[in-house]
Amino acid sequence: MQTNTLPKSDQIATTRHPLKQNKVDRYDRVYKLLHWLVAGLILLMLLAKFGFASAISQEDKITMLIGHSSIGSILTLFIMMRLIKRFIIRSERPTHNMPSWQKKVSSLVHGALYLCLVMIPLTGYLTATMHQLPVMPFTLIDLSMVSTSGYNQADFALIRGLHESFINLLMALLVLHIGGALFHKFIRKDGVMSSMTPGK
Ligand code: HEM
Ligand code: HEM
Repeated sequence: MQTNTLPKSDQIATTRHPLKQNKVDRYDRVYKLLHWLVAGLILLMLLAKFGFASAISQEDKITMLIGHSSIGSILTLFIMMRLIKRFIIRSERPTHNMPSWQKKVSSLVHGALYLCLVMIPLTGYLTATMHQLPVMPFTLIDLSMVSTSGYNQADFALIRGLHESFINLLMALLVLHIGGALFHKFIRKDGVMSSMTPGK
């Protein structure tokens, strides 16, 4: 009888079709680059939770809004590239060998993460258009439309609240996502983590 002699870390690729082998056991370089660029910039943006609360003067707040909207705009571009690669080009991704309940949980968490990656920038730009202060990415243009439409505190609070709610949802999902990645790395010791880390 033939036994599977592959180390656990190599038992990644399975196939949806019994005759066709899945060709990749890890994400490609562009996928990885975009994953870690987006992850790094999001973690930086989350610092705004403390930043906006600690701004004392109006000048400080305007400077913070310039920084937040500038990094946010670069991040939005990377997120768009990532969405195109994932949902339009549909680049090949590894299929991991894991129980079906784990696959379901992971797709659910990934789906919800993608939802946040769409909703956070969208509600961010909407919040910017309703802001009482100028919101100027790279000091180039003022996104705030208040000078033409007038400031409405209730509308601003509503949309800013949505931005904040998706950010809170993202933080909760990241606990599960990072926890899951560490579980695969240290408990299951399989190839899930290395499929997204640099190197061959
Ligand atoms: C803001 C931070 C992050 C976001 C928004 C994020 C988002 C995502 C998404 C949406 C996927 C699914 C990729 C796809 O199949 O299309 C993914 C995969 C992955 N992420 Fe993250 N991630 C973040 C941070 C991290 C961190 C800190 C780690 C490691 C500790 C990590 C480890 C992984 C791994 C190992 C995969 C591959 C999972 C698999 O193929 O099943 N991520 N990430
Ligand atoms: C994924 C990207 C983003 C993250 C993680 C993020 C994160 C945050 C956080 C943590 C806050 C503070 C919320 C609180 O006080 O609890 C905030 C507020 C805000 N964000 Fe974002 N944001 C992102 C993208 C954007 C974008 C693209 C824009 C617009 C260009 C934007 C505009 C704003 C504005 C105008 C506020 C309100 C600031 C105030 O209170 O005066 N955000 N964001």
